[in-house]
Amino acid sequence: MEKGWEKTDRRKTDEKKRNGKKLIHGADYYPEQWLDRPEILEEDIRMMKLAHINTVTLGVFAWAALEPREGNWSFGWLDEVMDRLYANGISVILATPSGARPAWLAKAYPEVLRVAEDRQKNLYGMRMNHCYTSPRYRELTRRIDEKLAGRYGRHPALKAWHISNEYHGECHCDLCQETFREFLKRKYGSLENLNQAWWTGFWSKTFMEWEQVESPSSRGERAIQGLALDWKRFVTAQTKEFMDMEIRAVRSYAPDIPVTTNMIGSFIEVDYPRLAPSLDIASIDLYPEWGKESPWKVAMKAGFEYDVIRSLKKKPFLLMETTPSMTNWTEVGKPKSPGLHRAGCLQAVAHGADSVQYFQWRKSRGAFEKFHGAVVGHSGHEHTRVFRETAQLGDILERLGEVAGTEHQSGTAILYDWSNRWALNGSVGPRQNKYYEETVREHYTALRSLGMNVDVIEEGENLEGYRLIAAPMLYLIKEGVPGKLEAFVEKGGILVLTCLSGIVDENDLCFQGGFPGPLRELAGIWVEELDTLYPEEQGRIVSMPENSLGLQGIWGSRDYGEVIHLETARAEAVHGTSWYQGMPVLTSHQSGAGCVWYLGTRASEDFLDCFYEKLFSSMEMMSERHRRLPKEVELSVRRDESFSYYFYINWGEENCRLEIPEQAELLGAETPEEAFMKGNSDVELFDAEILYCQGEGKRLLLGPFGTAVIRVARF
Ligand code: GAL
Ligand code: ZN
Repeated sequence: MEKGWEKTDRRKTDEKKRNGKKLIHGADYYPEQWLDRPEILEEDIRMMKLAHINTVTLGVFAWAALEPREGNWSFGWLDEVMDRLYANGISVILATPSGARPAWLAKAYPEVLRVAEDRQKNLYGMRMNHCYTSPRYRELTRRIDEKLAGRYGRHPALKAWHISNEYHGECHCDLCQETFREFLKRKYGSLENLNQAWWTGFWSKTFMEWEQVESPSSRGERAIQGLALDWKRFVTAQTKEFMDMEIRAVRSYAPDIPVTTNMIGSFIEVDYPRLAPSLDIASIDLYPEWGKESPWKVAMKAGFEYDVIRSLKKKPFLLMETTPSMTNWTEVGKPKSPGLHRAGCLQAVAHGADSVQYFQWRKSRGAFEKFHGAVVGHSGHEHTRVFRETAQLGDILERLGEVAGTEHQSGTAILYDWSNRWALNGSVGPRQNKYYEETVREHYTALRSLGMNVDVIEEGENLEGYRLIAAPMLYLIKEGVPGKLEAFVEKGGILVLTCLSGIVDENDLCFQGGFPGPLRELAGIWVEELDTLYPEEQGRIVSMPENSLGLQGIWGSRDYGEVIHLETARAEAVHGTSWYQGMPVLTSHQSGAGCVWYLGTRASEDFLDCFYEKLFSSMEMMSERHRRLPKEVELSVRRDESFSYYFYINWGEENCRLEIPEQAELLGAETPEEAFMKGNSDVELFDAEILYCQGEGKRLLLGPFGTAVIRVARF
């Protein structure tokens, strides 16, 4: 309700704003598409101000406009754009242009073109398709990056470097093959070690000379799963080397400007935790497929992606790209329905983003993305629903400026590791679809439904500070991880493991001596056999009459059924079907001050909801706020030393009431309604109506896509 804003006293907010805190509202801006229409720049600046755009990203694919012929530079247009933006109070995130190369470059230096896994060289074609190993491509990229950094590194509009664009892909050229072998020599030292690690004694795969080792392809060498895993690690290493080269190039002229690169959330090709240490800020590009499933389901998927990227640096991140309306590359290109843009983008902020930025500001007239959503459409003016909703969000982001820089701390984490994903995907068996990604998101959704902030971390991460870690299908276990998990549990942590855990080491070699391998003692069980189920087969989880959580009932389960023997653990629930009926399916094992739970199947969502609720209650992590969270309302909390910011978003179809945090009353307002009337700015509401129910405490009413941001002082 807009009028809410007018009533609200902004004193405290303004104080904070004066401290210069501001959320970025921005867009990818490609003026190089419109160089023959000089009036467009002024028109764009006028409309950017209307839309409360305070930052634009320039130059993402501008190589051909900056260097139309080799060594022939053309910076005049960019000088003008940077100066005009600055004069109008709009900041710039400047990209290095290596994401797409000009035609002259591909013609003159064909070695920069990527070679596909079938060893066919790509044509000039698309973008992001160059060999990251190529010294020529590195050299030409470094040269243009340094030119840009030298020219604009001290420009007052410049706020950050956006390094390249969505690094990804692999190249199988001869040089990459050679470099891969060097990588392997460094890793293994000898061919004997490599042959052992890759178990090449099977199918006559033993390598006698280094030259015999080649990158995998779907036609052949994927037969050796250890090789396929190392290849992926190599590809990430090459990507990082290329990125680091670009970072050095811009830093040599502009050492104080932060660098970021836009990552694609949980995108499986690049092991992002390897890139993160080189970056000052993590950024995400995200295009949730609203409309494909219920808003709640899409929101949970999106939330997971934000949490993956935030957890890379455990600091606020940037939402570098999203669409203001539709996406053109999805199966169905659906504009966001009214109100969804605001809710979806505030969700990113709730999860720790300090920005909402779009691809792109002005819709292209032609080429690949002419139908992709943009703030300014083909109509060319601001009188559109998309523009209005974007501007409205820009206004809200301005009002929420004080949230910038606040942390999204989590006491709960999910272990989610790229090597584990690669190994599971690449493994032939125990079934074709492992349902790994689905399972992880089901656990995530159960945790988020309870209003818990969740970090999504890799195996190598420091586990300090977490109280509960869920590690669904921890199939591949890296060295040092069992010890870390033991220490975590010993000190009081709760660890949740599931079926398909502790199966292989980093090289995809199965652990000997019984599963879950190095976690066997910690879990206190031995998994003798693994049954996998057809889609029409149902598993059952039956709670034990006396169990430590007070679980009571029978729940469904799918896809996996493990035959578990208790060693030091106790059975909390048993299988209700199949020949292993009556054997443990859920076990717990106290170890030190903590406990390990093991769930030997893929449990239904109902079960997970119930299990985690009981678990958190037993850990005294469930407050009234969590208990009363209505279904399909998402709660996320950001905080700094003075305030907590509670973000509530209603993804359901019904109006719902919610309990506002108890501590809010400590601010002196008896009810949110009164707080509002008194002009207290501690309650910030978007599309929320306040209801005061005598005797029932403080309540808010949120409609579908309604969002409330509530500030509560911390003591
Ligand atoms: C991103 C890409 C942008 C644009 C966008 C469209 O992946 O970085 O350049 O193509 O997708 O959704
Ligand atoms: Zn190559």
